[in-house]
Amino acid sequence: MQDIGVTTSERPSTASVQSVRPPLLSIVVPTFNETENLRELVRRLEELLTGYDWEVVFVDDDSTDGSTSTLFSLAQSNPRVRFLHRIGRRGLSSAVIEGILSTSAPYVAVMDADLQHDENCLLPMIEALRTSDCDVVIGSRYLLEGGIDGWNATRATISQSATKIAQVLLHVRSTDPMSGFFMLRREAFNGSVRRLSVMGYKILLDILVSAPKPLKIVEIPYVFRNRVHGESKLDSAVAWEYIMLLLDKTIGRAIPVRFVMFMAVGGLGVIAHMLVLAMLNRGFDVPFVQSQLVAAMVAMTANFFANNALTYRDKRLKTPRELILGLLSFYAVCSLGAVSNVGIAAVLFNEHFSWWLSGISGILVGAVWNYAASSIFTWRK
Ligand code: GDD
Ligand code: MN
Repeated sequence: MQDIGVTTSERPSTASVQSVRPPLLSIVVPTFNETENLRELVRRLEELLTGYDWEVVFVDDDSTDGSTSTLFSLAQSNPRVRFLHRIGRRGLSSAVIEGILSTSAPYVAVMDADLQHDENCLLPMIEALRTSDCDVVIGSRYLLEGGIDGWNATRATISQSATKIAQVLLHVRSTDPMSGFFMLRREAFNGSVRRLSVMGYKILLDILVSAPKPLKIVEIPYVFRNRVHGESKLDSAVAWEYIMLLLDKTIGRAIPVRFVMFMAVGGLGVIAHMLVLAMLNRGFDVPFVQSQLVAAMVAMTANFFANNALTYRDKRLKTPRELILGLLSFYAVCSLGAVSNVGIAAVLFNEHFSWWLSGISGILVGAVWNYAASSIFTWRK
């Protein structure tokens, strides 16, 4: 035998690896700044899942609180733990999707890292998939024995209203389509994966609505626990991202959602413009042309920041340098948009189209130009 220069004590032990068969169950856990919860979660999973072939896949977006080194050492010492480290990325849905794509286990669970989801439900979830022909098992807060521990009335109402909207608008037959805790068959995920919207937090809803034919759902009640360590990453953008998801799933096949958002922001810009114009010209007697010019600058600037925060949230410009260059390119794009707007309107008007049809056509051409050009030059990341 060839000597490869490794002494017995240095040779990697294969015993622990051999005892782990390919996993039946893969638990995908999106993670962002959860350092104090990670070891405890793995401990609970090990205790619960003895006798099963399982793995856990943590998908971390380059946490800043030490989670990444905790995960690295967990994955190096425990063959059941895998660590997918994403750099320069953020997003709960995309983290979950990439975690699922990284495994070939026939059953995949999705669960938060912060111990708010009741891990004991994993066992009845596997049994439901094994013993019935259902596609997905959902941990529900809204079944009779389920619940939410210590939520204030506002958050509870918002969550319940969002649930109702999904049920009515998207015909989802689940009591808790917003749940971040579920288990599904690999094939069920494969059916949806190419049609996912990948927007925001609501990955289960996205999967359910993207399925080519309705998935068979089983639900298991659980009580959503209070967070002990760390804090929620849910912010006001979640509501906006939810609206984007709803739009994408309803009118999205016909019109790109981003364009609708861009137009909505543009509509608000027109209102801002008129307010400034009225204030300067009517209120302060500034000559009309100067007032119009200032109003246009104010509206463009406001639109730039609104689009940056909302329409292009995922490609947001952040540093002062990015913002200044972005703003200048947006001014340039919109100025050309205004020229094409007026040009088209003038041509149509000269061809004897009515004043309002000429005007609206000009606005539409200008808006499409602004949208297309700013997505190339301003938010190109
Ligand atoms: N990789 C990654 N990237 N993980 C993230 C990100 C991100 O940008 N944002 C949040 N996470 C991780 C958190 O670390 C946590 O493990 C999990 O996603 C959920 O985030 P929380 O901030 O704790 O959300 P929540 O508790 O307010 O809401 C959760 O539970 C609800 C009920 O099940 C979410 O799962 C909701 O989608 C769900 O409706
Ligand atoms: Mn949480």
